Formats: sequence, structure tokens, C-alpha cells
Amino acid sequence: MLEGFGSRAATFTADVDQAIYINFVLSIVLFLSVVAPMLYFAWKYRESNVKDENIENIVHHTGLEITWTVIPTLMLAVFFWYGYTSMRTLRTMPDAASSITVQVEGKKWSWNYTYPANANGYVHKTAELFVPVDQNIILEMGAPLNDVIHSYFVPAFRMKEDVVPGRLTKQWFNSTVIGNYDVECAEYCGTRHSYMLSKIHVIDRATYDAWFNSDAKAPAGFEVAMSKGQEVFEANGCNGCHSVADDSILVGPSLMGIGEKKDAQYIKDALATPDKVIAEGFSAGIMTPYTLSEEDMTALIQYLKDGK
Ligand code: CUA
Repeated sequence: MLEGFGSRAATFTADVDQAIYINFVLSIVLFLSVVAPMLYFAWKYRESNVKDENIENIVHHTGLEITWTVIPTLMLAVFFWYGYTSMRTLRTMPDAASSITVQVEGKKWSWNYTYPANANGYVHKTAELFVPVDQNIILEMGAPLNDVIHSYFVPAFRMKEDVVPGRLTKQWFNSTVIGNYDVECAEYCGTRHSYMLSKIHVIDRATYDAWFNSDAKAPAGFEVAMSKGQEVFEANGCNGCHSVADDSILVGPSLMGIGEKKDAQYIKDALATPDKVIAEGFSAGIMTPYTLSEEDMTALIQYLKDGK
């Protein structure tokens, strides 16, 4: 986990780190400036050390009051300045015309990406994000209306933003280091929250362009031999809740052998109206309906039947 965390992988990573370090050090200074005198005075004026008649009742000390008001105020202004400027960098979207804008959908419990159509009109849909190095990328993020709140978190880039049903939220980044970076969900969203993971692959421009202008599933070096049906299964996040290789229960029932036990119509109905027939021991209202193209449906049924 946390691949590439220390590599200063995005243009604003160093800014965010600087804000965190400055605020951390200032917090320690503020903490010590209150707690250290408190402990010292508690010790100095301990009961055995003072007599009542020695205690002078000071009601006012202008110099001290100005000091303990002005110094913390200045420190908090520094605090605010570094927080505000790095936040502004993260929240100011770059010029859309010179950026690549990718749609991100977060749903229980997977991430998927939809690219703009390429010159041939082909639209890439992926489960991991591929982007060229040194390029502004805008993520337009959302969740299905009947889903819950997620949060798109890239620790190596120090960026995080909520993904909210029915609302469009945005993030941007520009990665300067070729590599693979973890994406995590940072908003507790149910049973499989900790498995709601993805990757950002930052690759060289030529490899990206060659892939983007083709209809290949993944750029050179990232191809995974996968049947069409398995692709459909994973691209729709079915694997987030259903095992196929064994009979383990993730969220919903295992689908191992379902293609032999049930016919194609059963599988189609289960996708269109998941709550109509509920397997024994499971609850309604967990799975959302899925609409697949005829081609995808055929491939999926084939996959559930023979694992290919
Ligand atoms: Cu999605 Cu946690």
C-alpha cells in the first residue's frame, strides 16, 4: 500500500507537505507555550511553597495581555496562510481546454473511469486510471443517486475529495513522476469500504497517446488477458460483492456455479430487479439494478457459466 507516497509525485504535493509541517510545528509551539508555563507555575506556587500573605492579587498587566494576544494571532495568521494557499491550489481547476477530463464514478464498492471519446469515437471505460506524465488531469466525480458518499483519496498526491450521489465534485492533478499510485476510498461506505481501491498509472506520453487513440483495453505493458465476460464482471464492480472462483461470501452470495444452476433469464432478472428474488440468508435493498448492453449480457452469462 501507499506506493510512491514519498516521491512528491504531483505538482502540489510539496506545497501540501509544507503546509502540514508548518502547521504541525506551530501547533507544538502553541501547545508548549501554554502547557509549559502552566506546569512551571503549578510547581513554583505549590502549596508548601507559598503563604497566603505573600500572594499579590494582580488584576491587570497590559504588556502581558498584548503579548499573549498578538503572538498567537500572528501564528494563526501563518497557519491560515499556508492552509489557504495550498487549499486554493488544490481547488482551482486548471484550464479545461489544455487538460484531460475524466469522469469518475464511485459506487459500492468500486471505482470506474470514463474517458472522452477519441478521434474514432471510441470511449475508454476502465477500472484503473491511465494518464500521461506532466499533464493536467481533471476528475469529474459522482456517485449513482441510490448510492452513498465515498471519497476519492490519492495519498501519494495528497489529494482527497468527497464523491457524493447527485452532485458533481472535481479534483485535478499533474503528476511529474511516472509510476503507479494507490487510490483509496476515504469515506466509510459499508461492508467493502476497505476494498474500494483503484490505481492511477502515470505513463509516458507516447504510450498514453497510442492507447487512447486505439480501442485497446489498456496501454502497452498493462494488458491483462481477460475474457469479455470477466471484463464486464469487473468493470461493473460485480467482483466487489460476489466471488466466483470460490464459495466465499463477500457481500452478496457467491456466484460460483450459478451459470449451471440457473438459466440466462434468471441472471438477467437478477441484474434488472435484484430485490425480486433474494437468495436465502441475504437481504433486499443492498444491490442496485444494472442495465447491460445485449453484447455485455451475453458475455457475462457465458462467464458465469464456464468462467471464460
Ligand atoms: Cu466507498 Cu468507502
